[in-house]
Amino acid sequence: MSCQTTAQAAELPKVNESGAGEKNPKVVAFLCNWCSYAGADKAGASQLPVPQELSVIRVMCSGRLEPTLILEAIQKGADGVMVLACHPGDCHYKEGNLRAFCRAELLERMLPQLGVDPRRFSFDYVSAAEAEKFSRITTEFVERVRSLG
Ligand code: FES
Repeated sequence: MSCQTTAQAAELPKVNESGAGEKNPKVVAFLCNWCSYAGADKAGASQLPVPQELSVIRVMCSGRLEPTLILEAIQKGADGVMVLACHPGDCHYKEGNLRAFCRAELLERMLPQLGVDPRRFSFDYVSAAEAEKFSRITTEFVERVRSLG
């Protein structure tokens, strides 16, 4: 009986000194296999800081992402969603990243109407060589989402 109580207590969220619950945001990052996923891999190999709050989903092209997948991630509890694509002109499927950019712009405009703060969404370009950029923008995005509560 006492072991069960201890196990339940261990699952309670941490409480800081002010009494408010400390919450680590859940951030889903959709990464293109050919660029940003490789950039993330390089960031890890280079031991650059990558936020632990990031849940990476590898896709073969950012153009594969329908806005409904992004909304589904938010609906299922993500506090923030990132889409990281190949730079313009570098998409392996010609213009998938341009389609993704257009969808991202539309989605950003739609989010407030759906009751979602558009600052909880981010679209950017990261190449396989941009490990430092990957580290920086993921860290900044997680902090931004954390500040939104
Ligand atoms: S292959 Fe990377 S965005 Fe299309």
